[in-house]
Amino acid sequence: MDISVFLNNMRDPAGVPFYPVIFQVLMVLTFALHIVMANLVVGSIFVALWEAAKKTDYSTRLAKALGRVITVSFSIAIVLGVAPLLFVQVIYDPFWYTANTMSAFYALLFLAVVTIGFYAGYAFYLGNRKNDASAFKTGWGWLALIAVLVTGALIHMLSMEQLMPAEWKNWVITPEGHYLTGGGQFHGVAPGRLLHILLPSFAVTGVFMMLYAVYFRKRPDYDPEYLDYVAKRGVNLAFVFSVVAAAAGFWWAGEIPGEFHFLQNPFFIAGAIGGIALTAYLGMAHMNPEKYAIRAAIAMFVVIFVMCAAREGLRMDYAGAAGYSIFDYKVNVDWPSTLLFLVSFVMGLYVLCFPAIAAFRAGRAPAGEVVTIEPSHGKRAVTCLIVWFAVVAGLGLIISLKNGTLF
Ligand code: HEM
Repeated sequence: MDISVFLNNMRDPAGVPFYPVIFQVLMVLTFALHIVMANLVVGSIFVALWEAAKKTDYSTRLAKALGRVITVSFSIAIVLGVAPLLFVQVIYDPFWYTANTMSAFYALLFLAVVTIGFYAGYAFYLGNRKNDASAFKTGWGWLALIAVLVTGALIHMLSMEQLMPAEWKNWVITPEGHYLTGGGQFHGVAPGRLLHILLPSFAVTGVFMMLYAVYFRKRPDYDPEYLDYVAKRGVNLAFVFSVVAAAAGFWWAGEIPGEFHFLQNPFFIAGAIGGIALTAYLGMAHMNPEKYAIRAAIAMFVVIFVMCAAREGLRMDYAGAAGYSIFDYKVNVDWPSTLLFLVSFVMGLYVLCFPAIAAFRAGRAPAGEVVTIEPSHGKRAVTCLIVWFAVVAGLGLIISLKNGTLF
């Protein structure tokens, strides 16, 4: 059977409830947010272990601070991973489900490994909260590091398998004609691509350290020399690894079949120019890292977002070569579910502002000082959540009763 017939028949026959381009834009945006956080997880574990090995007062203090960052960024990376996962399943469903079926063992292993990584990261943080340089323990940190690298490699493999539908038949059918149902396929690893996506971990963590220095500079109980140390280490990491990541970007481009002309992809060109400009900016930031920190963070996110768009453009090229386009999806516009989704999204951001403001203000206050914040925002956020729950649960009940699925 022609692969395009297979792919197009595997689409969800119900079609999509809104225009595919909206899902695509949200997929790229949420993937960019996911990958920034995943980078921060990988980078903070690496840098924490590295700093711990130096055994000085400042480096141990920084390793402890990064230990705490691991727990928070890991949670956010996992939550933000779900969003692109859902969008991929909506517009690239034949690709995603085939890769996950062929490689079911690794898809399940991914879940186990990410869980191990999370708990190992937590154990690393909890186990060192009160330790000084001589008692600092790194065993859990190493386990967390191995687990996140394996996690990244597994999801990369699942992403790559999706891009090669022409190979699927060769992978699952033996020369004798037997269909392999074991779910043990592992194909398509592209080291340049994986490195280009993971090496920015150090640059992202470096910029994070610059922001850390800006944030804690307002705290009178923080040693200014310690903050100078963190800012300087941060800007060095960000600069050096922006250069290294850019080099890996060209390695990735070299791995891609020439027929896709990836070097001429406008998003790739924009990302490459942006990456070079960002590196130059980080070079200037050595003069005064804290002054440049916020602008460097914004510029870095823009470059990562553009590269994520290039990654999506490449997926469209691969899918197009196999006769599949997300724009051929049957669109059955469903306004109520679309509005519910958008309102939930905006409301979620509003609700999250409250804990974010509380955490921001609390972190700025010296240890032991109680911070009070205006309670009206909190009350409005809780009311929003209650109304949202009533609407969603109510709609679910009404629809289930109407369709006769409840009784
Ligand atoms: C800290 C742990 C994680 C790391 C280091 C990580 C790393 C990565 C990397 C490197 C990629 C890009 C692969 C490529 O394009 O070649 C990726 C993609 C992705 N990740 Fe994560 N990830 C992590 C956790 C998760 C979790 C827990 C989820 C799901 C809840 C998730 C969902 C995704 C999705 C949906 C994609 C895109 C797949 C596609 O576009 O086909 N990730 N991740």
